[in-house]
Amino acid sequence: MERLDARKKLVFIGPMGSGKSSLARKYIKKYGGRAIDTDAEFTRRYGDITAFFARYGENEFRKREQDLLIEAAESDARVIATGGGAVLSKKGMSALRRRFDIVYLTAPIDKLKARIASSDRPLKNDVEAILKAREPLYEKYADFTVDSSEDSLVALEAALGVPRNNRYDVVLCDADDTVLDFQSAMKLSVLYAARTVGMINSDEHIISVYKSVTDEIWGRLERGEITRQELNSMRFRLFTERMGVSADADEMNKLYLEKQRTTRFVLYGAKEFLCGMRARGIKVYITTNSYAHIARERLKALDGCADGTFISEELGSDKPNPEFFRKVFEAIGCPDRSRTIVIGDSVTSDIKGGINFGIDTCLYDPSGTKRSDADYTVKRYDEIFDIL
Ligand code: S3P
Repeated sequence: MERLDARKKLVFIGPMGSGKSSLARKYIKKYGGRAIDTDAEFTRRYGDITAFFARYGENEFRKREQDLLIEAAESDARVIATGGGAVLSKKGMSALRRRFDIVYLTAPIDKLKARIASSDRPLKNDVEAILKAREPLYEKYADFTVDSSEDSLVALEAALGVPRNNRYDVVLCDADDTVLDFQSAMKLSVLYAARTVGMINSDEHIISVYKSVTDEIWGRLERGEITRQELNSMRFRLFTERMGVSADADEMNKLYLEKQRTTRFVLYGAKEFLCGMRARGIKVYITTNSYAHIARERLKALDGCADGTFISEELGSDKPNPEFFRKVFEAIGCPDRSRTIVIGDSVTSDIKGGINFGIDTCLYDPSGTKRSDADYTVKRYDEIFDIL
């Protein structure tokens, strides 16, 4: 093959002696662009790696190595050659996966040993045990596997001839403010309730007071401090209190929910996003903290865009409780957790829930203002396809 896909940006992972650095050099020589070698970069900044290990220990090395991986992931490099232990950093690997395809270089153990025999590497005597321990990680992250025993560039070109496989089989996608436009639904519904009971305050004031109340009580629900019923009876009591008006809170709650039930507002591009994932063979399930009779109606707007819907009221627990995810998993046939990802806009329910349950997480944050421990953060749907 003469030309490779111009968009392909590659990261080489694999054990010591698998030829990551030399393949990076060969690749750039033939195709152009910039290569980063994280070990070489480490040495440039902090001096000899073996000396660093001896002086500061492996942990300190891994910390700095992780920072270098993240920095390289955000660079304009065309290829990145990593150190053999890069796969130990989940954060580093997630950052790399976001913008690069990952190539796992392998070679028979004798070849690896022979290649590193005369070099000075701190862990070179343990290569066999280390490889055994890390093999599952190399395999997990490998989008392509390339045997470097012979001409690794030729083998790489052959491997890249087909598109990479999906990294995930299952997506658990939140509904509100991830694919449904909850902000519009909420504003319409709260204004309807307020006007119906005769409130004359400005739209902005009503909405901002309502938002402060719901942010607070949904937080309490997520933390397990109140039940769904308590939330329901509390929200307009608190709202009318804070507005300083004496309106019938129960009536307002009824009006609010009635109106919300009629809203079928889909975020721009959400249908294409969901259908696009399914077209790639990924199972997509909508997971939402909500009331069944309301969510079922509103989700009709996304009919045919998902393989199923899970609503917290029906499951009897809310995100981020691991129980919520356990029940979803059971219902969908217990997929491989390492190949399942949660996508959602809420740090406290989606991201925290995914982390609690031990699955990967992707924060959908169009504003780019949220902070979280998610494996990935994206502003746009199309960025998610690079991850999947
Ligand atoms: C290491 C591999 C080395 C280097 C360091 C630790 C490892 O990189 O990062 O000595 O833990 O396997 P190479 O794979 O380039 O030898």
